[in-house]
Amino acid sequence: MKGIILAGGLGTRLRPLTLVTNKHLLPVYDRPMIYYPIECLLNAGIDEIMIVTGGEHAGDFLKLLRNGKQLGIKHLAYAYQEGEGGIADALKLAEDFADGEKICVVLGDNIIEGNIKKAAGDFFTQKSGAKLLLKEVPDPERFGVALVSGDSIVEIEEKPAEPKSNLAVTGIYFYDNDVFSICQKLKPSGRGELEITDVNNAYLKRGDLTSEVLEGWWTDAGTHESLYRAATLVATGGANHLELTASAEA
Ligand code: G1P
Repeated sequence: MKGIILAGGLGTRLRPLTLVTNKHLLPVYDRPMIYYPIECLLNAGIDEIMIVTGGEHAGDFLKLLRNGKQLGIKHLAYAYQEGEGGIADALKLAEDFADGEKICVVLGDNIIEGNIKKAAGDFFTQKSGAKLLLKEVPDPERFGVALVSGDSIVEIEEKPAEPKSNLAVTGIYFYDNDVFSICQKLKPSGRGELEITDVNNAYLKRGDLTSEVLEGWWTDAGTHESLYRAATLVATGGANHLELTASAEA
């Protein structure tokens, strides 16, 4: 299984911090934000990784990560997203890299305490389809929200004004290779973007979507409040980190 980290966008909710750099290069406590999704994939045994980014500061990823060997990445690839087409538009750029394999997609501003090794293993043995990782949150209206009945997701709504549950769809997704044809058929949403929630709903409609609730804390870091929370959680929350900082200096 290959890993794809989506690290594009303008980061407008974090201005002025993002006027001079890409959101995913901002510090979260003691390391750049992009280290955390890398670590999430490496902890799950996924060491072939593509970073999809864009904008004016894309070259800084190369300066920071180089070929990724110092972080333990076996194969690090980059793709450049033109414009602001949304998460599902960025994902399209990873089709050749995925090369027919299943993929684990992580949004570059998602940080977790634990690890996704078990979920990755479960998806590896899942015949087809997609798997989402869900997490209870106090503010579901900020996220994709899943309505679950028994073991199954029955509905996913993107940032609903009146959420039907407190289960956020985290930015960690497992997909089979069909995801690329689903992305090709999507229509832009009201905000003019190809939405990852529409991808997930396509799998839901086919009856080929599973989910697990993530253990340990989870946060995004795309607003000043959540970036601050992420740094605090990392500093105090005992995140299970690889020694990326030390090895990156080697
Ligand atoms: C995106 C997705 C949303 C998901 C969230 C997780 O939202 O659209 O469904 O719950 O990531 O971080 P964004 O943060 O891009 O607004």
